[in-house]
Amino acid sequence: MARPHSRYVCQACGDAVLRWEGQCRSCGAWNSLVETVVRDATRTRVVRQSGAGASARPLADIGDSDVPRLTVGISELDRVLGGGLVPGSVILLGGEPGIGKSTLLLQAAAGLVRGSDPTTRVLYATGEESAAQVRLRAGRLGLLTGLAAERISILAEHDVERVVEEARSGTLSALIVDSVQTATTDGLDGPAGSVGQVRESTVRLMAYAKTEGVAVILAGHVTKDGSIAGPKTLEHLVDAVINLEGERFAALRLLRASKNRFGSTEEVGVFEMAEGGLVEVADPARAFLVEHAAPAAGSVVAPTLEGSRPLLVEVQALVTPATYGNPVRRASGLDQNRLNLLAAVLGRRAGISLGSHDVYANLAGGLSVSEPGLDLPLALALASSLRDRPISAGTVVIGEVGLLGELRGVSGLERRLREAARLGFTRAIVPRAGRDRPTPDVPSVRIDVAATLREAIEQAL
Ligand code: TYD
Ligand code: MG
Repeated sequence: MARPHSRYVCQACGDAVLRWEGQCRSCGAWNSLVETVVRDATRTRVVRQSGAGASARPLADIGDSDVPRLTVGISELDRVLGGGLVPGSVILLGGEPGIGKSTLLLQAAAGLVRGSDPTTRVLYATGEESAAQVRLRAGRLGLLTGLAAERISILAEHDVERVVEEARSGTLSALIVDSVQTATTDGLDGPAGSVGQVRESTVRLMAYAKTEGVAVILAGHVTKDGSIAGPKTLEHLVDAVINLEGERFAALRLLRASKNRFGSTEEVGVFEMAEGGLVEVADPARAFLVEHAAPAAGSVVAPTLEGSRPLLVEVQALVTPATYGNPVRRASGLDQNRLNLLAAVLGRRAGISLGSHDVYANLAGGLSVSEPGLDLPLALALASSLRDRPISAGTVVIGEVGLLGELRGVSGLERRLREAARLGFTRAIVPRAGRDRPTPDVPSVRIDVAATLREAIEQAL
């Protein structure tokens, strides 16, 4: 039974009932009832009548300074945020358990106190760990002395009302809540982490952020399928969703925005998990490359572009005769559908049949990239592995493959190839230039153009 001020509201039709039921009685949807706090209707009306809302202004009167920024001082994080934190915004930092969210947030807190007004503090509320555990991590990060130690306050509390009360009692430059799945509000009976609690907690924290003009960062766990645990609507509520990705047991971490109201969603930040926390990677373009003693069959280097940043990645493929039953097609870090499609195109358009072979493909370094330009590198890696012939060292490959085996150009080709040249690559296989995309001229790189997949394979192998 719900408390007096909470109801179970159907997420499909909006009908509210007092008791949880498996199926909504009005619209028949299954599993759609979520416990929700019912706001006092008279109170909201008072606010409206007093005219406290915003007033309309001509577009020309709204200045640039209306989006001020608070730089975190960790340039990779600032870059992904679009130039720093916007006061009053709510940011959700998602990631699998153990990936380094709490570490990044504590480092961000330290960066914020360094860069902000000396009278403000950063409040780090943790519902997951005790204050002593946070202290232990702070020790590892070297934050037990100096500004960080004085101006970061730790509150081990999961009750959102208490967190907001504590936040209102001082002037904050930012509030960090670790994590939204452990936050609870008074009005609801559901356990921490339930859809109702997660959403209601976020709504309360957002109200705090907007009224006080303080940036709020929430840590959020990610489920197996890669979405943030809790209600889907959570990602719509907040201003920005950034994700920390990587393999838990490898050192490299990639920070990417999947939504950002104040910046691009294309920028990536690259970190390495070290003994003293997350360190920015000095030369990200090279970070995901693997050094081979000799050219290896099935390996192709591709100059990808993440936002404005070129990253060189190694596409690896392994093609072996299938032992029994349906052949296996497995991709990690790459789009599985593209792998299936490329295997089919190779068979029909380039005479390379993989029908009786198991196929595995992945990106080295635990990276995951989904850009169409990886088609050609992947197709060549498959062909190279099947024929057991390596592609000559110092070669990069980029391009999209169509169903007819034709190759299509990619954006920013010149930038990609310049970066490849900087890292010592001397040859590139790229799609033939279209009318609107001339083949760039990059010093010290020999550019081989191909119109079709078949041509590209001839040039490569
Ligand atoms: P953590 O930030 O606790 O992850 P999350 O909050 O996402 O669950 O980081 C967990 C891992 O990071 C842990 O396995 C230990 C490792 N780590 C380091 O390698 N170096 C460090 O300086 C710190 C603080 C953690
Ligand atoms: Mg944590």
